[in-house]
Amino acid sequence: MNRQLILLKRPNGTPAASDIEYRESAIPEPGEGEVLVRNLYFSMDPAIRGWMDDAPNYRPAIPLGTPVHSVTLGRVVASRAEGYKEGDLVSGITAWEDYSISSPEAGLGVMPSDLGIPLSQFLGVLGPTGLTAYFGLLDVGQPDPGETVLVSAAAGSVGSIVGQIAKIQGCRAVGIAGSDEKCRWITEELGFDAAINYKTSASLVEDIQKACPAGVDVYFENVGGEILDAALMCLNVAARIPFCGAISGYNSQVPVPGPYNFWQLVVKRARIEGFLIPDYAERFGEGIAQLAQWMSEGRIHHAEHVVDGFENTLDTFLKLFDGSRHGKLVVRIAED
Ligand SMILES: NC(=O)c1ccc[n+]([C@@H]2O[C@H](COP(=O)([O-])OP(=O)(O)OC[C@H]3O[C@@H](n4cnc5c(N)ncnc54)[C@H](OP(=O)(O)O)[C@@H]3O)[C@@H](O)[C@H]2O)c1
Repeated sequence: MNRQLILLKRPNGTPAASDIEYRESAIPEPGEGEVLVRNLYFSMDPAIRGWMDDAPNYRPAIPLGTPVHSVTLGRVVASRAEGYKEGDLVSGITAWEDYSISSPEAGLGVMPSDLGIPLSQFLGVLGPTGLTAYFGLLDVGQPDPGETVLVSAAAGSVGSIVGQIAKIQGCRAVGIAGSDEKCRWITEELGFDAAINYKTSASLVEDIQKACPAGVDVYFENVGGEILDAALMCLNVAARIPFCGAISGYNSQVPVPGPYNFWQLVVKRARIEGFLIPDYAERFGEGIAQLAQWMSEGRIHHAEHVVDGFENTLDTFLKLFDGSRHGKLVVRIAED
């Protein structure tokens, strides 16, 4: 049987168990040009929350009555598409289900299986997460040695890698995160120069100014809202803001106000630029090779939480929004 988690209703705010229905269906057969994938891991990504809404996005909304879309890692069990064979390790956007039909057109990629790394890392540090940090910081942020890089959601899967790449580039790395424990982790174990707990800060602007005495040259934006507003007040002339995401608004039931300090982009002749990691697909090989090298040299560390069990998928997904975990979250639904 094919276990599936079906999107029944568009969530109103934080997704509820009643928005998602567990179903069992027959294992599908691949058609001409298609591949049947046995999903092994689901990647927990904040973007999934946006795909659940019927609002303009970079992907069509998940149709009601179908399984929740997700980046996954799995093995090909049957192939009728050129370039894929049984047993290939593959990753792409499939769904919260045991078996998915996919194809080259859907962006299913064959992963190298000879790197000798835990498979889950293809979803994290050597997957979309690490690549988002890599291309977002280096291509969009373009940090120069000696500059200051500030990153929000800094103990998250993307932010924690951003700060470490900033250090490798010779920058000062400052992170904003939601607990003292997270702040300790990014400074003491990941090598960030300073960290700010936005939940206990009396003035985020003052705390950013203290942690970034030479101002902010690159602000890697993951969160939006008040944190973006505070960062805007601390920019240097010609600062760059790679706009990666705005997680603080993803579950909001009302339009998110602000940013109130947007005018600072004019004052500081600064640039803010949205980017999407799928646009870099042709350069993924370059990014994975560089990240793997930095890992082997001990210059990039990462944390991941692998939660076992298909039945734990929704609860694990919600942990992205309550800040209770650091690093990358994945759900393992089957042994390889
Ligand atoms: N553009 C792209 O191609 C791309 C690709 C991947 C991810 N993204 C975006 O990158 C951002 C980070 O993603 P991720 O996968 O690395 O997630 P993540 O940071 O691993 O997990 C989410 C973290 O965000 C923080 N957070 C949650 N709600 C918040 C709020 N209301 N205010 C402030 N912080 C909040 C929490 O940490 P605290 O305890 O610190 O609050 C939480 O642990 C997201 O906005 C995501 O959509 C974009």
